[in-house]
Amino acid sequence: LRDRYLARIEAAADEAALEEVRLSALGKKGEVSLKMRELGGLSPEERQVAGPALNALKDQLTAALAARKTALEDAALDARLAAETVDVTLPARHRRRGTIHPVSQVTEEVTAIFASLGFAVAEGPQIESDWYNFDALNMPSHHSARAEMDTFYMSRAEGDNRPPAVLRTHTSPVQIRHLEAHGAPCRVIAPGRVYRADYDQTHTPMFHQVEGLCIGRDISMAHLKWTLEQFFSAFFGTEVKTRFRASHFPFTEPSAEVDIQCEWSDGQVRVGQGDDWLEVLGSGMVHPNVLRAAGVDPDEWQGFAFGMGIDRIAMLKYGIPDLRAFFDSDLRWLRHYGFGP
Ligand code: PHE
Repeated sequence: LRDRYLARIEAAADEAALEEVRLSALGKKGEVSLKMRELGGLSPEERQVAGPALNALKDQLTAALAARKTALEDAALDARLAAETVDVTLPARHRRRGTIHPVSQVTEEVTAIFASLGFAVAEGPQIESDWYNFDALNMPSHHSARAEMDTFYMSRAEGDNRPPAVLRTHTSPVQIRHLEAHGAPCRVIAPGRVYRADYDQTHTPMFHQVEGLCIGRDISMAHLKWTLEQFFSAFFGTEVKTRFRASHFPFTEPSAEVDIQCEWSDGQVRVGQGDDWLEVLGSGMVHPNVLRAAGVDPDEWQGFAFGMGIDRIAMLKYGIPDLRAFFDSDLRWLRHYGFGP
């Protein structure tokens, strides 16, 4: 009996098998337990021999069970440790980090430079009403300038005869919204997305502008020119001359298109040197009708405004030839220009 059980204990492959052996020997109906119970039916002499023998057997089996149990637990732990080994020599899995898009980066650069000149940031909606995008900017409904803007119109509900809302064609409506809300004096820029139905190497239907607006009692074109030269020199990291060309916008009078000094050589533009000029923005003194539309008295207040293409100056700063690539989300392109993850 002893040898049989000791052999079974040794052979038990796991804790469940071991428990089975224990039950069949020492469980309530186990073989050893039954023999213990039978002791009562023996003669005292027989009991004196069989009793201690059975007790010894029980102790021996109990000890063997415990030993085998410990051995099984150790083996299980060894197996687990072996399975869970971390191979610290494996190369790390490469994780690409997100980076900031060139347009976002340039927007931040522009915002920081204008902040240092005392300009706060103003915002307006990209879906704009006809009034803010056009009328309030001195472009009444029949005005020819409207037609030149390649405007995207929102559809209207049937029976709605109000002028349709538009995707804003420029950031200038933010001039009106800001003045309406905060009045004069003011010094703000308004960077953001604008939309025009146009597509080629230098035009995409969505692009980015930054509007500038500075209103005070004696703000002049001289302040405009100084501000822009400060801005461009800081942005391009070198002194940049500007050239003002007389122009026309309905919302400024007088108006000027502004060029920055640059040099073209083998297909590359270098800003801040040479004697070529590149147009980068429209500007002027805010038209009295615009101030009036925004609730500001033009007899008391005057100032300048400008609108600049953010993508355009980003292309110049980082030597990017095709505007469309900005919006293709091609990681190879982003990496090539040092922006990719
Ligand atoms: N809104 C004009 C444009 O998009 C630019 C501009 C802004 C011109 C402010 C003058 C003053 O072309």
